[in-house]
Amino acid sequence: MRTPMIAGNWKMNTTIPEAIALVKGMKDGLERVDKVEKVICPPFVSLSAVKQLVQGTSIKVGAQNMHFEIKGAFTGEVSPLMLAGVCDYVILGHSERRQYFGESDDIVNSKMKAAMGAGLIPIMCVGERLEENEAGKTVEVVTRQVKGGLADIDSPQGIVIAYEPVWAIGTGKAATSEEASATIGIIREVVAEIYDASAADGMRILYGGSMNAANVAELVQKPEIDGGLIGGASLKAAEFVSMVQQTAAVQK
Ligand code: 13P
Repeated sequence: MRTPMIAGNWKMNTTIPEAIALVKGMKDGLERVDKVEKVICPPFVSLSAVKQLVQGTSIKVGAQNMHFEIKGAFTGEVSPLMLAGVCDYVILGHSERRQYFGESDDIVNSKMKAAMGAGLIPIMCVGERLEENEAGKTVEVVTRQVKGGLADIDSPQGIVIAYEPVWAIGTGKAATSEEASATIGIIREVVAEIYDASAADGMRILYGGSMNAANVAELVQKPEIDGGLIGGASLKAAEFVSMVQQTAAVQK
């Protein structure tokens, strides 16, 4: 019922020529797969080159961050309006933004509203840190992040949530499919509580954190897991294509 999504978050990797080469390496393979929404999120400076390369294909483009103001004296920032003609999606509240750039739930919420106002679809990231996980606070943390990020948003239509436990990001230690599925189920219940059952049923909730070609099938075959937000493995064209193919092959 929910179209699965595989999104590549390239983070702060690739120069413009490298981004172009990477897209060229995966474009045909991605195009051959339907039933899965394919999104690539390169660094800002490569967005327009990547957009041109995928124009007319089913491949979507996303940004990794944005400011919540439309324009003004915010040196170095990128606004929703600047992204609007180039991107379909924007990743918001990634744990690296929260951890290294002080993004609070309030800031994420302002960005969510600004993105939607500009016609961008947010991929809102939530996830607990290792010490929170070990202290049994996972549910508390993701509930707070989901409620905070979605505050005062009347219609969650289209919004994608990515559950990315911080301890799984870039560590090679993905959550088990049981752990990821259980937490995503709780996130869906929180969405149902804020809105209603149909909003929760319709919302795509992805897993992210050390997902790769070896574990993607096991993760996305869980009914609750609607795809993945991929870091490191999205920088390898063949592996990323394989992840999309494997996701398309899963029967739920
Ligand atoms: P890795 O796949 O490299 O663990 O990164 C996950 C992530 O943070 C995607 O946003």
